[in-house]
Amino acid sequence: MERVVLKESAYNIKKGKILSIKQMTENEKLFEIALEGGESLGHQPGQFVMVSLFGVGEAPISLSSSPVTGGSFELCIRAAGKVTNALHRLEAGAEVGIRGPFGKGFPVRALEGNDLLIIACGLGLAPLRSLIRYIFDNRGDFGKVHILFGCRSPGNILFIDELKDWNKRTDISFECTVDQVDCARPDWIRYVGLITTLIPRVQIEPERTFAVVVGPPVVYKYVIKELLSRNIPERQIFLSLERHMKCGLGKCGHCQIQGIYCCQDGPVFNYGEIKHLKEAF
Ligand SMILES: Cc1cc2nc3c(=O)[nH]c(=O)nc-3n(C[C@H](O)[C@H](O)[C@H](O)COP(=O)(O)OP(=O)(O)OC[C@H]3O[C@@H](n4cnc5c(N)ncnc54)[C@H](O)[C@@H]3O)c2cc1C
Ligand code: FES
Repeated sequence: MERVVLKESAYNIKKGKILSIKQMTENEKLFEIALEGGESLGHQPGQFVMVSLFGVGEAPISLSSSPVTGGSFELCIRAAGKVTNALHRLEAGAEVGIRGPFGKGFPVRALEGNDLLIIACGLGLAPLRSLIRYIFDNRGDFGKVHILFGCRSPGNILFIDELKDWNKRTDISFECTVDQVDCARPDWIRYVGLITTLIPRVQIEPERTFAVVVGPPVVYKYVIKELLSRNIPERQIFLSLERHMKCGLGKCGHCQIQGIYCCQDGPVFNYGEIKHLKEAF
């Protein structure tokens, strides 16, 4: 497994200014951030940054915006604990610390020229939005693109206005499902059922299809089973693993799975490479 070579600057905390904050759901907000001096972050879709607040701590967060945008970048953050709750209390204009970008992102070059089946569950849409927007920015470089999104209920749908636009696009196919209907947002529902129920609806040519899946660990087991049953080769399935991280750069060992460092060897992995790691799933 090829490991990312870190630059000396990976240890530096850069100053970031929050340009805007958008409430997306009850628990998730979208932060647009610019680095001091207009420096470009230079990330790849699927990479993450360590976001810090002085006196509070640091947390790994995936890049949600396309690298093509430059200038500023976006993070979709769920209020889950100490750092993320403190971030949710900030307002536009506040400063945060940024280290990174870190990790191996989605293998964009390998995906080029192929058909793609992108499967996002819940907050898994945050890193995949970066890839999806990159694909839209370079649409001619990819074959057929199918996007499936699933989440718990309509009130948990992230990036709802963008999803409505994806639904109207004729150069991709897009489907969305919720596990259950609630009263929070009854206005836009496609299907009700688990994400696995959408996979058989997509017409694919398995030998030229690459699947990219991001979601909570429980989802991988069932989604991968479904993808394999559609004859997509193991080596053409990519997924992103989430582990507790402290340093983000392969030094502390917090993110280790049987000798593999999620922060540096991942977070994006090829299923064929890690299927033998019981702890991974
Ligand atoms: C590569 C990567 C990308 C990520 N991308 C995103 C993203 O785009 N958006 C996003 O919102 N989140 C993302 N996360 C998850 C986020 O980093 C975590 O939720 C992080 O813990 C939040 O930090 P916190 O200080 O707010 O929460 P914490 O205070 O760390 O608590 C978060 C949750 O973890 C539990 N917890 C804390 N410590 C432990 C422990 N040692 N063992 C077990 N459980 C524990 C807490 O009870 C709580 O439920 C990502 C994580 C990784 C590794
Ligand atoms: S987070 Fe420290 S080694 Fe991965």
